[in-house]
Amino acid sequence: MCGIIGYVGGRPALPILSTGLANLEYRGYDSAGVALSGEALAVYKTSGEVSALQSILPESTDHRAGIGHTRWSTHGPPTDENAHPHTDCTGRVAVVHNGIIENYDALRAELSDEHAFTSETDTEVVPHLIEDALDAGADPRAAVEEAVERLEGTYALVVTIAGVDELYATRQDSPLVVGHGEDGTFIGSDVTAFLEHTRDVTYVQDGDFAVIDDDGLALYRDDERVEPTVERLEYEADAAEKSGYDHYMLKEIHEQPRALRQTISGRIDPDAGSVDVEVDLPPEYIASIEEIQIVACGTSNYAGRYAAELLESTVDVRTTVEVASEYEFDGGRDPWRTLVVAVTQSGETADTLSAIRRAKRAGARTLAVTNTLGSTIVRETDDSVFIRAGPEIGVAATKTFASQVATLTLLAVHIGRERGTLPYGRAQELLDSVRQLPNAVQSVLDAEDRVREVAREYVDSDAFFFIGRQLGYPVSLEGALKLKEISYDHAEGFAAGELKHGPLALVTEETPVLALLTDGSRPKETLNNVKEVQARGAPVIGARTDAGDGSSAGAGPGGADASSYVDVDLPVPAIGDLEPLVANVYWQLFAYHVANEKGRPIDRPRNLAKSVTVE
Ligand code: F6R
Repeated sequence: MCGIIGYVGGRPALPILSTGLANLEYRGYDSAGVALSGEALAVYKTSGEVSALQSILPESTDHRAGIGHTRWSTHGPPTDENAHPHTDCTGRVAVVHNGIIENYDALRAELSDEHAFTSETDTEVVPHLIEDALDAGADPRAAVEEAVERLEGTYALVVTIAGVDELYATRQDSPLVVGHGEDGTFIGSDVTAFLEHTRDVTYVQDGDFAVIDDDGLALYRDDERVEPTVERLEYEADAAEKSGYDHYMLKEIHEQPRALRQTISGRIDPDAGSVDVEVDLPPEYIASIEEIQIVACGTSNYAGRYAAELLESTVDVRTTVEVASEYEFDGGRDPWRTLVVAVTQSGETADTLSAIRRAKRAGARTLAVTNTLGSTIVRETDDSVFIRAGPEIGVAATKTFASQVATLTLLAVHIGRERGTLPYGRAQELLDSVRQLPNAVQSVLDAEDRVREVAREYVDSDAFFFIGRQLGYPVSLEGALKLKEISYDHAEGFAAGELKHGPLALVTEETPVLALLTDGSRPKETLNNVKEVQARGAPVIGARTDAGDGSSAGAGPGGADASSYVDVDLPVPAIGDLEPLVANVYWQLFAYHVANEKGRPIDRPRNLAKSVTVE
């Protein structure tokens, strides 16, 4: 949520900041701005996307340092005034900020007599606090530190001060990462800000104070200078580029076979029927688990629901899934025996972080399943497992959903085998299903032309309903979420059996129903619901298990072929438990092509942001 970039070095800063902001736009895109450092600051900012900012920037300048921001509004609408950077009264200090300053009302009231505020943002108190400290005689670094001490809430802040050739940065519960380049040092809210310049990074920790100048990074922790830990990112050079696809989302849908191979790589021992997901859960702890609680938001929550079905049967303990913002810990007498699993692509979702903090306070053991090394969730949980999907830029999650479900399936096998609750043969079945995933997903991707045609046929429908049972239910929820967020069409996911308890009233010939009919998800019963909607004139698009000869594996009533009951028949390779996950790729492609037909800004849907760092 909101993107930050900063640079100090030997090259002109403006193009670096401008490109960095374009790369970060997926984090927020309702206003943008830059402040170029020097004897006097040069600030440019405007409402609108980064392209609007680029149209008011000078062609070139000599500045060798500066900061930039792309915003997703929290306090105050997306206006020119509310765009970052924010400055003090004298224009000496410029600040970019992600997060929320919770005590800004009180600070603003305190400062208002002496300081003229020009925006409605919480951020603007920061440059004014720094201004006061400078006026009181503090040196620039101390002035920033003094101001930060007054703040309550969450923040990643980067500050530039006129006449000072250093940038200052600090964070609390909002990510910041420094990039060490050959001809300069970068700072960003995530690595996509500067990935084309360097892959050597230092993750700033909560409370750290970073000073960046021509000599690189000086990092202070508890007032002591510490040696920064430098990590080399393994991302491939093209990971954050579109590689010829029209949208990141489409690229990421197509990357799924590769992402899944990365997720699985080296983790399965097929002979032993065992799994190593590099998690440090001791066998005695695994044996003692009494309950598993999954907390997550949005797509990650649906991945959690998929996994919960598998976990409950393999691990043989009660497994619940909760929307993170609704979560309250309610474990047993020994809370440590409740394993609370946070599923989060970004590792920075505020609702999920706060659920995990509640679980920790109650004494539970916590585990993160995430895509993001160095993220806040990784630092705050007892253990973490990485889904290894590679960077995901499109706001709509696609490849990370697949990699989350695959990783959680491996985790279920690991815990089930360690507990002795998962028989060898069943473990083999699950692992076979995981191993077949990449090729099965590829076969659905190969059918993209067909899905595009279907999307064109139904693009003008009034609404879209997704139905499924068991493992098909979370996939129906996910299919509907994907379609609504990028096409802006009304789409809903239902447990197929629930249709007749109300939603059927909405079904007409203008509401296509996308039905999940794969073998393990009770296709016979769902076919009854298919008939109910067909009787009301609704066209049905069905994804069903392909028996290998082009027909479905006897799912229809009385063993008849499911494919003959639907208007559009989409075959899914028979790979067992993960067939609904493969069918989900049809729903992703369908959502993409409906949205594309409508000319929607697919990678940056309105009102949304990739990483939601406010509650
Ligand atoms: C939808 C989507 C969101 C995220 C949700 C949680 O396509 O991407 O629903 O899944 O905001 O984000 P993470 O997984 O980063 O915690």
